[in-house]
Amino acid sequence: MHTSFALLGLVTCLTLSPAWAETTETPPPIDQKSAFLEHLMQRMTLEEKIGQLRLISIGPDMPQPQILKEIAAGRIGGTFNSISRAENRPLQEAAALHSRLKIPIFFAFDVIHGHRTTFPISLGLASSWNLEAIQQAARVSAVEASGDGLDLTFAPMVDISRDPRWGRTSEGFGEDTYLVSRIAEAMVRGYQGSSPSNADSIMASVKHFALYGAVEGGRDYNVVDMSPMRMYQDYLPPYRAAIQAGAGGVMAALNSINGMPATANIWLMQDLLRKDWGFKGLVTSDHGAIWELIRHGVAQDGREAAKLAIKAGISMSMHDSLYRDELPKLIQSGEVSQKELDASVYEVLAAKYDMGLFHDPFRRIGEASGDQDPKSEQRLNREAARQIARQSLVLLKNEQNRLPLAKSSTIALIGPLADSPIDMLGSWSGAGRHQQTVTLRQGMQQALGAEAKLLYALGANLTGNQSIIDYLNRFNWAETEVNPDPRNAEQLLAEALEVAQKADVIVAAVGESRGMSHESSSRTQLTLPDTQKALLKALKATGKPLVLVLMNGRPLALEWEQENADAILETWFSGTEGGNAIADVLFGDYNPSGKLPISFPRSVGQIPTYYNRLRIGRPAPLDPKEPGNYTSQYFEEPNGPLYPFGHGLSYTQFQLSDMQLSSLEMTADQSLEARITLKNTGDRAGETVVQLYIRDEAASIVRPVKELKGFQKIQLQPGEQQVVRFPITEELLKFYNAQLEYKAEPGVFQVQIGLDSQQVQHQNFSLKP
Ligand code: BGC
Repeated sequence: MHTSFALLGLVTCLTLSPAWAETTETPPPIDQKSAFLEHLMQRMTLEEKIGQLRLISIGPDMPQPQILKEIAAGRIGGTFNSISRAENRPLQEAAALHSRLKIPIFFAFDVIHGHRTTFPISLGLASSWNLEAIQQAARVSAVEASGDGLDLTFAPMVDISRDPRWGRTSEGFGEDTYLVSRIAEAMVRGYQGSSPSNADSIMASVKHFALYGAVEGGRDYNVVDMSPMRMYQDYLPPYRAAIQAGAGGVMAALNSINGMPATANIWLMQDLLRKDWGFKGLVTSDHGAIWELIRHGVAQDGREAAKLAIKAGISMSMHDSLYRDELPKLIQSGEVSQKELDASVYEVLAAKYDMGLFHDPFRRIGEASGDQDPKSEQRLNREAARQIARQSLVLLKNEQNRLPLAKSSTIALIGPLADSPIDMLGSWSGAGRHQQTVTLRQGMQQALGAEAKLLYALGANLTGNQSIIDYLNRFNWAETEVNPDPRNAEQLLAEALEVAQKADVIVAAVGESRGMSHESSSRTQLTLPDTQKALLKALKATGKPLVLVLMNGRPLALEWEQENADAILETWFSGTEGGNAIADVLFGDYNPSGKLPISFPRSVGQIPTYYNRLRIGRPAPLDPKEPGNYTSQYFEEPNGPLYPFGHGLSYTQFQLSDMQLSSLEMTADQSLEARITLKNTGDRAGETVVQLYIRDEAASIVRPVKELKGFQKIQLQPGEQQVVRFPITEELLKFYNAQLEYKAEPGVFQVQIGLDSQQVQHQNFSLKP
């Protein structure tokens, strides 16, 4: 416990909390949460109550002396973006020691895929299909973040994304409802541990509620217009899964849904979230979103915006001052009732209570004497980062077993992403330091030692388009995000070709900069930028084997690359230990096991390509060689994605055989089991993911062609085999019907099992009435 807090003589856990220091009335014991908080609320002034609803960004907008004053006056409920104990301590002292009622504040931050240690971006984490590893990544992040005095993260981000033009695709876990829901649970369990009140836990605030990933055209902040059935079936379950796993918070999305912004959406926030789902935690707005209600055109001024938001149940206002400015007048006029205000205040206080802050506001901040340099190497968990980064890499192509590479050859490593530490971190890696990040060049060099020769050339700048570079540098997260080499394209290419000529094999590291897959970074093209395309063509023309290492935060359109490269390894943005992890895979020290959590289109015009599409009357023929007249397709290119959902190769071969169902029929209260034998028929140990899909053959409404309903990641030695079992219960067959009832309908179902979503074995069974 913080000394000054203890010195006050307030043995909070026993009888007296600091909030009651000035009262003669005996407060309820602290372990009686609602009585304790309600009693506290009776003592709060209107200004203090409104203060609790303000979530303020620490930064240039509010210098420290001013923020200390505001906190001590009880005018701030929580802050975000200050990420060290030393920064947070005086702020908590102002709140918990010096404010009238001594109500603690909380500290929040976007701990999205790691904290001091950066793990792969969320899309990469999802590619591991390893829930334990994902949970561990969140646990390590929580330990590091709580060690910096943080109490809450604005994560997990579980927006289903099916349009890779959307820049925030990188920040989510892909296109599939089932997979994202399981990951949502794992992330919440990892962040919160056994309780968000633990000193080494942080509270999870799931976002962006709701449907942010479905913004029209993949253009950030755009509208969402969606049928209720699609919403309930595909987009809402991951948020609910996070809440059922115990997430203490929910952040409202920036978009509107069927004409009403989430921030003012009473149906979404009250009826669905609180009444139907029973959520009792803290709802915050997104950054400035209450004020944006004016821009959406549903509020004519700040007063109306504040009124709409609080009535919808947005309890904390992130980074805007409308609650402070408008709520006093709205309460006075009776337009917002005391009851409505109190409901929000209670939510904020209850969240603080659940974070353990009333018991000890300094439980995560500790004593100054225990502070560590937040930037020190000791703060990092490199081993955990390397383990999961290896699992997040997806081998998309490996012609003639070009990979793994021998450690004895001469390798030319070429490309703008080969040695770019900032980009390894990926988007939303606020506390990660590029100075502590291993690039691919460093990782390969370390793996090779003196055994082989690693030659390097930049080869091309990220892009030749100056306005794109200017745009990316405007974000200015690091000193310079994108730092083009001043040499011209010909000079860079000449150097690369010279290097390539001396090598046995070329490894080209190409893709996007991290800023290209970020908030506000929607794209109209999904091909590699022209400079990089030209580089690859020139490298291909050397006739040397060409291995592509891709770094990107969204599916790209890679038809040329698929045709021309010998091997392609998707590495996303793989974090602090990314370079080592990629080298592990390139040299065969780790056998790749990642699978795509999102399908890759052939071209941008083919979007959307998600695998679990609804059935239609004129589907394109399954065999791409068959003519598809009057069927649903684009006639200029083959139908279907370039790489399907669930795709990912290994250095060994796996075979599935003998799919069996324990019974060909079941009733609602029975279950059956699907079994299949997985065999490692190659000569290396390896892991793969066996995937279970179910298709409802006929129902009261149109159902998807298939849906993922289970998966198991299994490791086998060469020659080893294992029977994989999937229980099938009525629960797996349920869906939202036209009345939005969640029910299974009797009839025929097809069970499909495969190592990706396309190549599957299948068998039917019936659900009997
Ligand atoms: C983003 C949120 C984020 C918030 C605070 C907003 O711009 O949409 O996802 O949590 O900023 O950093």
